[in-house]
Amino acid sequence: KLRVLSGIQPSGKLTLGNYIGAMKNFVALQHEHECFFMVVDLHAVTVPQEPEALREQSEAVAALFVAAGLDPAQASIFMQSHVPAHAELGWLMTTLSYMGELERMTQFKDKSEGKEAIGAGLFVYPSLMAADILLYNTNLVPVGDDQKQHLELTRDLAGRFNYRFGETFVIPEPFIPKVGARIMSLDDGTKKMSKSNPNAGSYIALLDTPEDIRKKISRAKTDLGREIVFDVQNKPEVSNLMSIYAKCSGQTIEQIQAAYDGQGYGAFKKDLAEVVVSALEPLQKKYNAIRSSGEIGKILRDGAERANVVAEQTLAKVKEAMGFLPPL
Ligand code: TYM
Repeated sequence: KLRVLSGIQPSGKLTLGNYIGAMKNFVALQHEHECFFMVVDLHAVTVPQEPEALREQSEAVAALFVAAGLDPAQASIFMQSHVPAHAELGWLMTTLSYMGELERMTQFKDKSEGKEAIGAGLFVYPSLMAADILLYNTNLVPVGDDQKQHLELTRDLAGRFNYRFGETFVIPEPFIPKVGARIMSLDDGTKKMSKSNPNAGSYIALLDTPEDIRKKISRAKTDLGREIVFDVQNKPEVSNLMSIYAKCSGQTIEQIQAAYDGQGYGAFKKDLAEVVVSALEPLQKKYNAIRSSGEIGKILRDGAERANVVAEQTLAKVKEAMGFLPPL
């Protein structure tokens, strides 16, 4: 059995990109491996959050984990802030990180671009993410393509620690889907689909109504020409829609290409909307049931309890290796 860990930020609504790039793999991995999935609230506050909204979004993301198919009996689901070892190892990892390597992180560059005041937390974010992963002796980290660079840094930091203080950390591997690792924006095939995009028409939120989904897909930008072919270089928009179709229907890109041979964008988009609506319908039903059941509290308590056991063990090992005086 391998250890699996990943996290999602509770900052705004989750999108189809989060689902396809990450959550679908969380669900697929839970049966064979020992899994930890968390709502990374400590990461969310690296940009300003309204307290009320943070509370609501945190519970919403935890409920979406379960609604997407995670079984709390198989996988530990918890809030990052309920496991204090994250903040503590995060600090230790910060002391091991170099300014230069943090400056090279593209997510930091994107999020700080054009801002006058850049929070220091945003800068050291990847050190905290490394701590998240390393606390659990994680082997596999299911993420979308945009987290690859953070994973590389995590591997570097783990190696650096092991070299300086002795074999302590497992070196983790990213686990990235072959199709759908980077779902693009519906209004621009060169930009990542993102919950922070101010244009709500650019993304499909997991809790969008069927009418919204149909409207957004019918308005999605399509490339010149009319053929339904997968060609990321020349037809990024259509290729993106085909990836969404494939992941929501379970069909391969080849099957979709063959099925729509000779048909135009109109027919394809109409079907795509229905494919997405039916993929999200059971998730939305389950989401509403879980929110109204009040089960989330217990799920998060149980998850944090299991996570704390593992995390505290690792943290104790780390502190001993680094030379901290144990409580006398
Ligand atoms: P976050 O919250 O931005 O995104 C959560 C997950 O969704 C994936 N994702 C996408 N995949 C495909 N296409 C997209 N358009 C798309 N948008 C988002 C992300 O790759 C991610 O897997 N730093 C992380 C959270 C984190 C974490 C961790 C992840 C904190 N600690 C430890 C793994 C392990 C983040 O900001 O993800």
